[in-house]
Amino acid sequence: MAHIIGGVATTHVPSIGKAIAENKQADPYWKPFFQGFDYVHYWLAREKPDIAVVFYNDHGLNFFLDKLPTLAVGAAKEYRNEDEGWGIPVARALEGDPDLSWHIINTLVADEFDITMCQDMLVDHSVTIPMALMWPGARRHPVRIVPVSINTVQHPLPSLKRCLNLGRSVGRAIDSYSKNVRVMIVGTGGLSHQLDGKRAGFINKEFDKLCMDRLSAEPEALIGYSIHDLVEEAGAQGVEFLNWMAMRGALTGQVTEVHRNYHIPISNTAAATVVLENREISTRKAA
Ligand code: DHB
Ligand code: FE
Repeated sequence: MAHIIGGVATTHVPSIGKAIAENKQADPYWKPFFQGFDYVHYWLAREKPDIAVVFYNDHGLNFFLDKLPTLAVGAAKEYRNEDEGWGIPVARALEGDPDLSWHIINTLVADEFDITMCQDMLVDHSVTIPMALMWPGARRHPVRIVPVSINTVQHPLPSLKRCLNLGRSVGRAIDSYSKNVRVMIVGTGGLSHQLDGKRAGFINKEFDKLCMDRLSAEPEALIGYSIHDLVEEAGAQGVEFLNWMAMRGALTGQVTEVHRNYHIPISNTAAATVVLENREISTRKAA
């Protein structure tokens, strides 16, 4: 039976890729952010995931404004990255897990989520930066991935409630997966940031803290925020928090926040990293 070990959420600002390429992790600007990954590395080494289900948002590499699915699931053997124009190295291809992908897709459609199924899919910085942060220097990442893309780019966007429920459906799919694999869930992006317009550079520390506080213990307490509330409170691109909500939804057991790092700013973004541990209910009963 598959096990859901927990979740990692992290900012995916492209300039992180440049800092990695230039070995700037210890520079005063970058250190407070990269240091926040020491615990993540310890946790991953201890928990040894086989597969990562990654909730992220494509920024125009695979989907553009002409055809943009609200929700899409990768079902490919391999996911390539390409030059997005940020001046960062193109990441090596990531290995997929088509079998788990199709199991998740079957569950999602049965649960009435109308997703787009992608047997060919490029992944952008929103996937590759978190992978590089979690496994720095890895020639080959030790996990296979199932990417799940949520539209945070072109309105109308899915609600926080829908993303939480999407995650829950993915979590149920993993719980019912017969292979003995250890699965981690990743949510990327956020926290508060706005890249353009009159409020470019907008950051809301209080709201970010509220979101992180509620995420582990009472995610339902956040679903009262509409997408427009979220834009107002977190900034136009702060809506990437939808990916964090989906990640949280997929943790079907008892959830505890075991690590948090919050640092302002990286680029125009409030940079945050969180690790949530998932204790499976059935394991607890058996113990
Ligand atoms: C930045 C943040 C993002 O989430 C992104 O996708 C691109 C840029 C930034 O803060 O610069
Ligand atoms: Fe982004």
